[in-house]
Amino acid sequence: MKIMKVSLLLLIILGLTFSVAIAKKHLPEERGKTLFNDQKAFGGKKACNDCHPNGKGLEKAADKKEFKTMGKTQKSLEEAVNFCIVNANKGKAIDVKSEQMKDMAAYIKSLKGKVKQKAAGY
Ligand code: HEC
Repeated sequence: MKIMKVSLLLLIILGLTFSVAIAKKHLPEERGKTLFNDQKAFGGKKACNDCHPNGKGLEKAADKKEFKTMGKTQKSLEEAVNFCIVNANKGKAIDVKSEQMKDMAAYIKSLKGKVKQKAAGY
C-alpha cells in the first residue's frame, strides 16, 4: 500500500515538473509575439507584424549570422531587430540583453519551422 502512495506522489511531482518546464519554454515566445503585434511597443508607430505578417519572411532569421536590411548590414539577430525598431517602427532601440529582446528573439526563433510545416500541408 505504501509503495502505491509513494509512486503516486512521485508521478505527481514528475507531472508538475514537466508542466512547469513546458510553460517556461513557451512563455518567452508568447510574450515576444505580443510585442511583435503591438503597434505601441518600443514607442513606435508600427507593429513588426504590419510588415512581417505572422512573422512572414523571418523564418530564416534565427540562423543567420549577417543581415542586410534596407541597405545596411547587421551582425546579429538582436541588431537586426533593433534596426527595424528604429528605422521601421520608428521606436527606441532596446537593450540587447533585455527581457524584451530575449522574448522577441524567442518568437523569431519559433518561426523557424513554419515554412516546412506549410509545405508539408499542416
Ligand atoms: C515598415 C516595415 C517594417 C517593419 C514595421 C518592421 N520591419 Fe523588419 N524588415 C523590413 C524590411 C523591408 C526588411 C528587409 C527585407 C527582408 O529581409 O525581409 C526587414 C528585415 C527584418 C529582419 C531580418 C530578416 C532577415 O532574414 O534578413 C528581422 C529579424 C526583422 N526585420 C525583424 C523585425 C522586427 C522584430 C520588427 C518589429 C520591431 C520589424 N522587423 C518591423 C521591414 C519592416
